Amino acid sequence: MNPEALFLSGVEVAIGATHILHDVALDVPKGALCGLIGRNGAGKTTLLRTVMGLVPALSGTILCEGDNLRSMPAHKRAHLGIGYMPEDRRLLPDFTAEDNLLLPMWVTGEAPEGRLERVYELMPEVAAFAKRQAGYLSGGQQKLLALARALLCGRRLILLDEPTEGLAPALARRMIEVLARLKGSGLSILMAESNDSLLADLLDRVFLIERGSVA
Ligand SMILES: Nc1ncnc2c1ncn2[C@@H]1O[C@H](COP(=O)(O)OP(=O)(O)OP(=O)(O)O)[C@@H](O)[C@H]1O
Ligand SMILES: [Mg+2]
Repeated sequence: MNPEALFLSGVEVAIGATHILHDVALDVPKGALCGLIGRNGAGKTTLLRTVMGLVPALSGTILCEGDNLRSMPAHKRAHLGIGYMPEDRRLLPDFTAEDNLLLPMWVTGEAPEGRLERVYELMPEVAAFAKRQAGYLSGGQQKLLALARALLCGRRLILLDEPTEGLAPALARRMIEVLARLKGSGLSILMAESNDSLLADLLDRVFLIERGSVA
């Protein structure tokens, strides 16, 4: 048996009185780069947050390599090896870029074992600003830093929320180049993107999400 990096079935999510996700099913095979494509407000962010444990699922199945995530708190999911790059980056502005990368690993008790070096090799620009305070980096640099952090944490599964969104064209191209190098590297990735994504050619599998349902 080779359980998927992520398996969802029958997932229902409501925030307050609003039902947002309906009967969502999808699966990310190990080592695949999958896209979650949909227009504004379709439910992409909510779905990624549900997998990370930041929004509770009312019902349904959420498995990561066969482990049941549904009732697991977010910090345990991080511990299990799920990395998340939020839409709005969520960095610690007063810490250096490098501390932003290392902090989650201190929390989860994971020793870097050369992983930081591998991420720096993939993104030398992140190594170049590693000692600078995260809050003083440009928006694009912060986005690369948030990707680096998700890569370090995501041994089993990496969730990326619109990684190229809001980037100037040159930085967007750079982000795509980095993601292209990740493809086939063995990492399992689920990436939310808008309908006109420049990343479409890279994806092994695409899930279309419309008004909270995956087609
Ligand atoms: N905290 C919340 N409270 C109430 N409704 C919410 C909340 N978060 C999201 N929603 C609603 O859920 C729906 C899905 O939103 P979500 O942010 O998941 O979409 P999205 O596909 O990520 O959109 P975007 O492309 O704009 O990032 C929207 O109708 C949104 O208004
Ligand atoms: Mg979103």
